[in-house]
Amino acid sequence: MRDKDKRVNSYLAVISLCLLMFFSSIFPDLALAANVSQAELQKIEKQWQTSAHALAEVNCSSCHQNEETKAFVAKPTEESCKSCHENSVDTFLLGKHGIRTLEGLSPLTPAMAHLPMKDDSLNRQMNCNTCHDEHTANTYQASVDSCLTCHADNHSLNYQSSPHAEVFRKIGTLARPNSDSVTCATCHLPRTVSGDTVLVNHNNTYTLKPRDRMVKEVCMNCHGVEHSYNSIFDDELVEANFARPPTQKLQTFQLVRDLEKKRSGKGS
Ligand code: HEC
Ligand code: HEC
Ligand code: HEC
Ligand code: HEC
Ligand code: HEC
Ligand code: HEC
Repeated sequence: MRDKDKRVNSYLAVISLCLLMFFSSIFPDLALAANVSQAELQKIEKQWQTSAHALAEVNCSSCHQNEETKAFVAKPTEESCKSCHENSVDTFLLGKHGIRTLEGLSPLTPAMAHLPMKDDSLNRQMNCNTCHDEHTANTYQASVDSCLTCHADNHSLNYQSSPHAEVFRKIGTLARPNSDSVTCATCHLPRTVSGDTVLVNHNNTYTLKPRDRMVKEVCMNCHGVEHSYNSIFDDELVEANFARPPTQKLQTFQLVRDLEKKRSGKGS
C-alpha cells in the first residue's frame, strides 16, 4: 500500500472511531437538547466532515462537552473555542465587536450601532459563530459575505465593485483566503505572523486607530507608501472602497521631496 493510501486509511479509521463515540455518547444529548431531527444532525455532521476541524480531529465533543466537568454543552460560546484559539478570542475581545463581552455586558448587536446596518440583522448577537459557521468553520465566507449580513454603510456596500473584490473573486472559493486577495478582513482583521503560524488579529478597531496603522500593517504589503497614504486619507476614496486610483496628493510627500532636493544640492 502506498504511504498516501495508508494515511487516508488511518484517517478514515480515526473518523469512524470518533463517529462511533459520538453516536454512543454525545449525539443523543445534542439531538435532545437542540430538539433537532436525525436529518438535521446528519447535515451538521456532513458540514463538519468538510471542515478544518474534522481534519484536525476536533470533533463534536471538543466543543459540546466541558473539558473538565465533562458536562454536555448545548450552545458552545467563545469559552469553548478559547482552549484551542486563545489568540483569536483575546484579540476579538479588545475590538469594538467584542469589548462589551469582555466587560461582562450583553454581546454587541447591530441595534446598538450608529453606523447603518441591515434591517434584518438588528438583533443578531456578536460572537465567534456570528462570522464563522460553527460546523464548517469556513474562513472564505467569513471574510466578506458574513460582514455584509450586518454592515450597510456606503463604504461596506461599495466593496463588491472595487478592484480588490475582483481579485478576491478571481482567486476562487479557497477555504482560507489567499494572501494575494484583499477582503474586508485583510484590512480590518489583519493577519499577523507568529513564528511559522499565520494568525488573524480579530481586534476590528486595531487598524482604525490611528488610521495610518492600516497603511503600515496592510497596504504597504502590496502598494508603495505614497499611493497608500494618498488613498487612505482621501475620505471620498475610502467611501468608494478604493474603487479608483487616488487623485489627491498629500503635501507631506512633496515637502519631503523638496527637502531631499535641497539637501542634495539639486534643488533651487
Ligand atoms: C468548533 C466547535 C463545534 C464543533 C466541532 C461542533 N459544534 Fe455543534 N455547535 C457549535 C456551536 C458554536 C453551536 C451554536 C450554538 C448557538 O446556537 O449559540 C452549535 C450548535 C449545534 C447544534 C444545534 C443546532 C441548532 O440548530 O440548534 C447541534 C445539534 C450540534 N451543534 C451538533 C453537532 C454535532 C453532531 C457535531 C459533530 C459532528 C458538532 N455539533 C460539532 C460548535 C461546534
Ligand atoms: C480542541 C481544539 C479546538 C476547539 C475547541 C476549536 N478549534 Fe477551531 N481549530 C482547531 C484546529 C486544530 C484547527 C486547524 C489548525 C488551525 O488552523 O489552527 C482549527 C481551525 C479553525 C478555523 C480555521 C479554519 C480554516 O479553514 O483555516 C476556524 C475559523 C476555527 N477553528 C474556529 C473555531 C471556533 C469558532 C471554535 C469555537 C466554537 C473553535 N474553532 C473551537 C482546534 C479547535
Ligand atoms: C467579524 C467576523 C469574525 C468574528 C466575530 C470572528 N472571526 Fe475568526 N476569522 C474571521 C475571518 C474573516 C478569518 C479569516 C481571515 C483571513 O484569513 O484573512 C478568521 C480566522 C479565524 C481563525 C483562523 C486563523 C487563526 O488566527 O488561527 C480562527 C482559529 C478563528 N478565526 C477563530 C475565531 C474565534 C475563536 C472567534 C471568537 C472569539 C472568532 N474567530 C470570531 C472572522 C471572524
Ligand atoms: C452581527 C453583525 C455584524 C457582523 C457579522 C460584522 N459586524 Fe462589524 N460591527 C457591527 C456593529 C454593530 C458594529 C458597531 C457599529 C457602531 O457602533 O456604529 C461594528 C463595527 C465594525 C467596525 C468599526 C470598529 C470601530 O472601532 O469603530 C469595523 C471596522 C467592522 N465592524 C468590520 C467588520 C468586518 C470586517 C466584518 C466581517 C469580517 C464585520 N464587521 C462583521 C456588526 C457586525
Ligand atoms: C483596502 C482596505 C479596506 C477594505 C477592503 C475594506 N475597508 Fe472598511 N475601512 C477602511 C478604511 C481605511 C476605513 C476608514 C477608517 C477611518 O475612517 O478612520 C474603513 C472604515 C470602515 C468602517 C467604519 C468605521 C467607522 O467607525 O466609521 C466599517 C464598518 C468598515 N470599514 C467595514 C468594512 C467592510 C464590511 C468591508 C468589506 C465589505 C470593508 N470595510 C472593506 C479600509 C478597508
Ligand atoms: C494583497 C495585496 C494588496 C493589499 C494588502 C492592498 N491592495 Fe490595493 N490593490 C491591490 C491590487 C492587486 C489592486 C488592483 C490593481 C489593478 O487592477 O491595477 C489594488 C487596487 C487598489 C486601488 C485602486 C486604484 C488603482 O490604483 O488601480 C486603490 C486605491 C488601493 N488598491 C488602495 C489600497 C489601500 C489604501 C490599501 C490598504 C488599506 C490596499 N490597497 C491594500 C492589492 C492590494
